[in-house]
Amino acid sequence: MLDIKTILQYTAKPAPFAPAGQPIWLDAHVSRQLLAAHLDPHRDAASRRPETIDHSVAWIIATLGLRPGMAVLDLGCGPGLYCQRLAGAGLKVTGVDFSAVSLAYARKKAAGEGLSIDYRLQDYLGFADSDEVAGRGANACSGSYAAALLIYGDYCVLSPADRKRLLKTVRSSLTDGGRFVLDVTTSECRKRKSEAKRWYAAGPGFWSDKPHIVLEQEFCYPDELVCCDQYIVVDQDGQVRVFRNWFQDFTPEAISRELEEGGFRLLGLYSDLLGTPYQADSGWIGIVAERI
Ligand SMILES: C[S@@+](CC[C@H](N)C(=O)[O-])C[C@H]1O[C@@H](n2cnc3c(N)ncnc32)[C@H](O)[C@@H]1O
Repeated sequence: MLDIKTILQYTAKPAPFAPAGQPIWLDAHVSRQLLAAHLDPHRDAASRRPETIDHSVAWIIATLGLRPGMAVLDLGCGPGLYCQRLAGAGLKVTGVDFSAVSLAYARKKAAGEGLSIDYRLQDYLGFADSDEVAGRGANACSGSYAAALLIYGDYCVLSPADRKRLLKTVRSSLTDGGRFVLDVTTSECRKRKSEAKRWYAAGPGFWSDKPHIVLEQEFCYPDELVCCDQYIVVDQDGQVRVFRNWFQDFTPEAISRELEEGGFRLLGLYSDLLGTPYQADSGWIGIVAERI
């Protein structure tokens, strides 16, 4: 029987960053579709296109002055598109991601290319915490990374409390003076003004391997620069899954302040992670910060 009560409950506007269901990256079916999106060379989808990633990795290595043997931590590494290139340049790379599907691909690819990359299947928010718990505070995950990366807007999907936790994690992973590279969206990126609703019926596809209905809804919080895309997926058998993708947009001032409060000094603000000077109408802010 269709659970309309549950559906109704999710159509009411939630408080910013209120969770619902599990992240899209962890759903058994959707995570496989996301892997295909990461690997699609023709679209900036779950990852950017290969040529952009090539240039971005080269720019990061040059800008940070990374040399072979230095340790780099890639948080939310997905299928390892940045890790592979960094390891290919001789860096000692650790990739962290909680998507089993993406990490399985990353490990297989590294093995096939003879690259030694330390892939960890875990929530990156607990990365440093879990090492302390395991009593391995002095090992390679604690304070030994020359650089940490969080690429393709991952900082924006975190609640304020999770962003604080993430900054602590990154800080404790970096060496003194270690660099943190990330990118965040501005309100120019999505330009949301109204809270649209949409529905469609589909055969097996992105959200389900069965015939299903998708109820899409947008929630906007313009004063906070927050928005949310919600997807209620109702399968043919009546199963309901709810996904919420939250986005916090930033101004240069807001991201600078948050990083400073988290123990970082801003070294550079760009329009991307390719070194393009920051423009006021940019949809993205690329950031290089230093642990202080
Ligand atoms: C937008 S993708 C970007 C992937 C990669 N940085 C890239 O640009 O190719 C976000 C990635 O972060 C991972 N992720 C999101 N939240 C996470 C968390 N809390 N812990 C570990 N991985 C997470 C997802 O599984 C996904 O692979």
